[in-house]
Amino acid sequence: MSGLDTFAAGILGTGRCLPEKILTNQDLERMVDTSDEWIIKRTGISERRILEEGRPASELALEAARQAVSDAGITAEDLGLIIFATITCDYHTPSMACIIQKELGAKNAAAFDLNAACSGFVYGLTVANQFVAGGLYKYVLVIGCEILTRVVDWKDRNTCVLFGDGAGAAVIGRVESGYGVLSTHLGADGSMGEAITVPAFYLTEKDIEKRTGENKKAIWMDGAEVFKFAVKIMASATRKVLEQSAVSIEDLALIIPHQANIRIIDGASRQLGIATEKVYANVHKYGNISAASIPVALDEINRAGTLKKGDNIVLVGFGGGLTWASALIRWAK
Ligand code: ACO
Repeated sequence: MSGLDTFAAGILGTGRCLPEKILTNQDLERMVDTSDEWIIKRTGISERRILEEGRPASELALEAARQAVSDAGITAEDLGLIIFATITCDYHTPSMACIIQKELGAKNAAAFDLNAACSGFVYGLTVANQFVAGGLYKYVLVIGCEILTRVVDWKDRNTCVLFGDGAGAAVIGRVESGYGVLSTHLGADGSMGEAITVPAFYLTEKDIEKRTGENKKAIWMDGAEVFKFAVKIMASATRKVLEQSAVSIEDLALIIPHQANIRIIDGASRQLGIATEKVYANVHKYGNISAASIPVALDEINRAGTLKKGDNIVLVGFGGGLTWASALIRWAK
């Protein structure tokens, strides 16, 4: 290959794994001062999956990764790189990517974790796209996996009803020219970082004061602030990747947005002027599974077989940081 060669990169295979245990809104009614009606009306969530204590997140990620590798028709040894998007790792070291590298037997793969909260999978996909397009790696595995239920305060009704656990994965590799990732857009605004925080080793007085419960390391969020930001950024990040590739909103087969709240998804869809049937939603089943939300949705769609070769789809997410990310993909499978 000459230094100038580039390759089209696209999604070759997908996988997902959700824990079996279901926590319903009715269960939550018995735990905090909330109601099924409030949760459905304000968020669209009916139930979420919970990984039982004592079981690691890597268990979910490994199953999703195995499925994605198999769906791509390759072996683990073909992988050149594993990118693992998460904010709820089992260990700070070894990284989740290294744990999966070992468990999967991907002995030829480099491996690292990536922290961009709910935008993490699309950030990872963007990095993978660069490596495959540039020719350095032929196959990159991108995983989004979270166990956010481990960092919620179960007495805080503002947050505990929102989150769930799960993992999704995709293998990125070379595809026919004109297909695959057409454009990507990444963004961050660290000045809004205090809107969603999960402390690790350092806590300010403010962090402590905000958390009324015992767990001073629980997730805290300014829901209203994030909500306003999310609707605007989901619409603008979608427009950005469409403009970059001169694809119109009418030419889109599907948008797969981050699944945080059905009102955010509907608000962004209205701003974009796209029919709700063209916007995927599964938030009612899983709640907000952060970095796992987009790859889980992608796998549901891939396995349902509803996408046709040549369909244009947009993946778009926002999350802690604050961060956002979008990708326009021409389906190549
Ligand atoms: N049950 C009943 N009442 C509740 C609950 C609950 N579970 N939660 C909050 N309330 C109450 C509030 O206390 C408030 O009562 P008050 O008026 O007496 O003070 C009232 O309901 C309204 O609260 P709001 O916060 O204004 O409700 P809102 O309509 O904004 O919905 C929500 C809150 C669902 C959190 C929404 O703001 C949201 O979805 N925000 C975005 C969150 C998000 O997308 N985060 C993603 C990033 S997460 C990550 O990156 C890891």
